[in-house]
This record gives sequence, C-alpha cells and structure tokens, in this order.
Amino acid sequence: MTATPPAQRETWSGRSAFIIAAVSSAVGLGNIWRFPGVAYENGGGAFLLPYLIAFLTAGLPILFLDYAIGHRYRASAPLAFRRIHRRFEPLGWWQVGLCYVICIYYAVVIAWAVAYAVYAVTLAWGEDAVGFFLSAHLRRPATVGFTLDFAPAVLIPLVLVWLTAVVALAFGIRRGIDRVNRVTLPLLAVSFTGIVVYALFLPGAVDGLNAFFTPSWAALADPAVWIAAYGHIFFSFSIAFGIMLTYSSYLRRKSDLTGSGLVVAFSNTSFELLAGIGVFATLGFLASAQGSTIAELENIQGVGLAFMTYPTLLSQMPGGQIVGVLFFVSLVLAGFSSLLSILQVQSAALQDKTGWSTRRAGVTLGIATAVPSILLFATTSGLYTLDVVDAFVNNIGVVLSAILTLLLVVIVGRRAPELARHLNAVSSFRVGPIWRVMVTVVTPIILTVILVTGAYGYIADGYADLPGWFLAIAGWGLLGVLAVVSGLLSLGTYRRPDALTIEPDDTEQLAREVQADKQRALRERSERRAGR
Ligand code: ALA
Repeated sequence: MTATPPAQRETWSGRSAFIIAAVSSAVGLGNIWRFPGVAYENGGGAFLLPYLIAFLTAGLPILFLDYAIGHRYRASAPLAFRRIHRRFEPLGWWQVGLCYVICIYYAVVIAWAVAYAVYAVTLAWGEDAVGFFLSAHLRRPATVGFTLDFAPAVLIPLVLVWLTAVVALAFGIRRGIDRVNRVTLPLLAVSFTGIVVYALFLPGAVDGLNAFFTPSWAALADPAVWIAAYGHIFFSFSIAFGIMLTYSSYLRRKSDLTGSGLVVAFSNTSFELLAGIGVFATLGFLASAQGSTIAELENIQGVGLAFMTYPTLLSQMPGGQIVGVLFFVSLVLAGFSSLLSILQVQSAALQDKTGWSTRRAGVTLGIATAVPSILLFATTSGLYTLDVVDAFVNNIGVVLSAILTLLLVVIVGRRAPELARHLNAVSSFRVGPIWRVMVTVVTPIILTVILVTGAYGYIADGYADLPGWFLAIAGWGLLGVLAVVSGLLSLGTYRRPDALTIEPDDTEQLAREVQADKQRALRERSERRAGR
C-alpha cells in the first residue's frame, strides 16, 4: 500500500478571481458602517489627510508584505509564520484569534442590516429611530452586563447569516467563496453607486460634502485622529490579521502580486471615499431638514450612524423606503463577502494544522463561531459588548499584530530581501528600497507610537464611559485569553506530512518563467494579428 499523497492546495481560478476576492474582502462593513463615522468623529475633512498618510505608510507596505508572506510560504497564517521560524507560529494564531473574535460580532452587524432592510420597506422605526434601534430592535437593558435574554429581531437574521456563511465556506475557495463574490460585488457596486448619486441631489448635500472635505488643521495635532486613521486602514484593507495573507496563499505560483495589490488598494479606498461622500451628502440633507449644522447632529459614529442617524433621515427623505432597502442590502452584500474572508483565515489554519477537509473545517468552525456569536450578541447585552470588543480588537489587537509581523518577519527574521525578490519575480510593479525602508523602519516606529498612545489612553481614561470591570473582561481580558490560546495552539504538531516543507527560494527561476510566459503571450498575440 502506498501512502496517500497530501491533498492539493486549492487555487483561485485566475488573477481576476483573486482580485475580486480581495476587493470583496476589503470592501466591507468597514467602508460603509465604520469609515464615515470614524471620519466624522475625527474632524471630518481633517481625517482624510491622516487616512491617506496611513494608506501610504502602513496600508500599501503591509498589504504587499501580507501578499508576499502568503504567496511565498503558501500556507495559512500560523503555518506560514512557522515556516519562517519555528517560534513565530503563535503570531499566526494571534491573527486567527483576532479573526475569530471579529467574525463573531461582524456577523451581528450584518444581521442587523438584514433586519433593517426589512424594516426599511415600511420605515418601521417611525419618528424615533434611536429609540427603535435600542429598544425595539436590540432590546437593550438599561444596565451594563451579560444576559441570556434573546432579541428575536437579531436572533433570526443572525442564524440565517451563519447558516449561509457556513455553507459557502464548506464549499471552499472556488465553488463557495468565489461564487458568492461574483454575485455580491457587482450588485454592491450598482446599488451603492445608485444611492450615492441620489444623495448628491438632495437639498443640503453640498454642506455635507463641505464638512467632509474641509480640512481642520488643528485636528492634525490630536494623536487620537492618527490612531483612528491607522486602526481603520488595517481593518479596511483586511491586512495584518491574516486575510490577505491567506487569500494570496491560494494564488498560482506565477501571479502578479503587487499589481493586483494596487488594484485592490485603490478600489477599496475609492469605495471608502464614495461611502464618505454618500453618507456626508445625506447628513447635509438631514442637517438642513432639521435646521441645524452637521456638527450638531447626534449619534454620528460607528453603530449609531448606520442604524440610528441614517434611518432618521430616511424617514424624511423622498424615496426613503427604496434608498433604505438599497442601503441596508448594500451593507449586507459588502459585509457578507468580507465575513467569508475572515472565516477563511480560520478555516485554512484549521485545515493546515489538522489535515481536515474543507467541508469538515468549515462546518466545525461554523459551529464554533456561530454559537458564541448568537449567545453574546443576539442577547440584549450585545451592544455594549460589541462596542468594547470592536475597539480593543482593532485598535490594540490588530495594530499589535502588524507590529509583531514587521518585528519578527522583517527585523528579527530578516526576510525583507527575500520577500522583495519574490514580489518582484512575479509582479508588474516592482518594490524597491522605499518599501524596504518602510517595513523596516518607518512603519514599525509609527505603529509602535500609535499602539503605546492608544493603550495608554484606554488605561488612563477607560473607554466610552463604560465600567472598568466590563473593559477588564470584554477588552483586556479577551486579548489576554487570545494571547494564551495562541501560544497553546502552537504547541500541537502538524498532521500533514508536507507541512513544514518550504519550496526553495527559486525567485530567479520564477522570474525567468514569468518573462518567458510574457514573451510567449506577446508572440501568440502578434501571430494572431498577422493571421487575421
Ligand atoms: N475589510 C473588511 C471591512 O472593511 C473587514 O469591513
């Protein structure tokens, strides 16, 4: 009897499937639900400059780094880091852990959007959208704490979201995730562009745009604005918590990495700005309808913006029902494909470590994520928990993950030259000394300042006026548990016989093959032309 050969790693069907997947992952709740609120909270126009600087100094360099690690080491995050160095595996599990926590609440926001797409048909929130969200929809209790009282309007869509996600995940990269993305992305582009164009024609829209685009230089001196910008870039780009690393590991050997990365980064930022323009134009309309200014509007942040302020203005807007349905359907479409990418990080890690099939990993993971998601967030204590978990996981957990990646892979492991060679062997856009200086010096320093300032702020001032014990459990405690679990999961051995084998660093050969392919394609094209 011969031993069964290790299962072939799945691949995307081609470059376009990868770009669609990466854009679908990047464009998510972060763009529509998080960005406009974060931008508003952090000075509106003042936020754009730090955002663009964060884009250039952390977004692009780490996106390329994630792609290079995933593609060079061809594995899920824990195994890829392990292949770099035996002791680096916990960093991969830390990223998987962040994804585990993020997907638990991410699915909940999608579930809210499902419910709101239905409410929007009749504008069910009536005159008091804020009260409706907190009392009728979430059934939020007056005191902070954990309960097991379910809110049915959250529970039912949440179960649906999880069932659909697990089915897609269990079908794998090509038959599951790729198929979903090919439906959601075009629909999202059409529906969201429609809403934004409509918003631009509302009375007061120009005031909203002015608020969004007028820089306030004073805000640039505020460290919190910079922290928010960097924190948001990671979430929005899907970088530093395993997603882009995992997705690029499914790319074929000869695949343009940086060229695709540029397409993904610019598409995501364009969509983000589009969302900002759409939301601020509508806020301008709301302010003018209420006879106030944008700065005086209430609940313009995170959760509040999409589920409290936006419904309020839908009730006052001509065609509010249609716009409302389109808006919340857009949120669902954008969020669902990103949710799949967050889940895939975990599924890939599970498959690599245990040797399980895609289906077995998908179903097991589905149960392991759906149960806490439902218990924690379909209950009436959900809102407080979500707020704290989102802030701590992103502003501390993901930023720490980015710093550790740079520290271990680039500074301690000295892999930047190898990874740059790898990127350049297959890509159309070459990375040079600027990228190396960024990942070795500039980005780690900036991120360390950001992390230290952010953590100090939470320790000294707390968060959102919530009680210390609650932050100690849902914020710091959660991160502590993740750190311990990451270490423990790294102890187990890999079942796959080839798990620790790395392909040789054959970048010269790879570059030659890519060049030969390009020349062959050119030759074939000119032969076809000559034959016409
Ligand atoms: N990148 C995803 C988003 O923006 C996670 O929502």
